[in-house]
Amino acid sequence: MDWGMKNRLSQVIQPDGHCFFLPIDHGYFQGPTRCLEKPGETIKPLLSFVDALFVTRGVLRAVVNPDNSKPIILRVSGATSMASGDLANEEITTSIEEIIRLNASAVGISVFIGSDYQRQTLLNLAHLVNDCEDYGIPVMAVTAVGKELEKRDARYLALSCRIAAELGARIVKTYWCEDFQKVVESCPVPVVMAGGPKCESEREVFEFVYDGMQKGAIGINLGRNVWQNAHPVAMARALQAIIHENATAKEAVEIFREVRAKCV
Ligand code: 5RP
Repeated sequence: MDWGMKNRLSQVIQPDGHCFFLPIDHGYFQGPTRCLEKPGETIKPLLSFVDALFVTRGVLRAVVNPDNSKPIILRVSGATSMASGDLANEEITTSIEEIIRLNASAVGISVFIGSDYQRQTLLNLAHLVNDCEDYGIPVMAVTAVGKELEKRDARYLALSCRIAAELGARIVKTYWCEDFQKVVESCPVPVVMAGGPKCESEREVFEFVYDGMQKGAIGINLGRNVWQNAHPVAMARALQAIIHENATAKEAVEIFREVRAKCV
């Protein structure tokens, strides 16, 4: 692996081999998502707990301080919206020149396996890998399901992750599921867990994150379950403990309660 690629990967994946990415890219198809109406305010208290931000170029330029930023994973696919049509109908939205200009440590792009836009989104991934590999920039593939959340089972996710890795993704982001080891074991590149819609309780989040880490994930890319929680700082600190300090779900609940008590 070339020095530049290794160096960028080491910016987003910590020396323990684990990572905590904070996604704030939801606006690229959802518009002003709840608790992300002012993304600059949302991330301010959370940045010290996370290893990288997953963000679009527009929000990056508008609200992220370039003098004091976490490594950036740039969201480079889009062109759909909740307002109409099929969320899978994405294209690449950002040129390689822009990716380099913004000094991205990595880029993220969605693929929608099994959708009407499977071929298009897989070719988007392949073309992005072609461009980014030339410059040592890692591509993270996001195995997206659009509104069809019921698709999230091990068979489907293993298929999606493997295809994304075969096309050259350096990291794959997918959903946690039952039998998650089946997804990780058949994927030849590191797997990061996405969050999905906000869970019923903090404990539920900690349990799936802990389980996924035990089954071989290298980390998380969790947004709504962090910043839509009533106590986002406590949530971020507790998740950091699972990812980087091997805390159990039970210990994470204790950390969450301690930090919440200090914050109120
Ligand atoms: C949207 C994304 C988001 O980054 C992803 O959904 C993670 O955020 P959340 O934990 O809120 O689901 O890739 O397609």
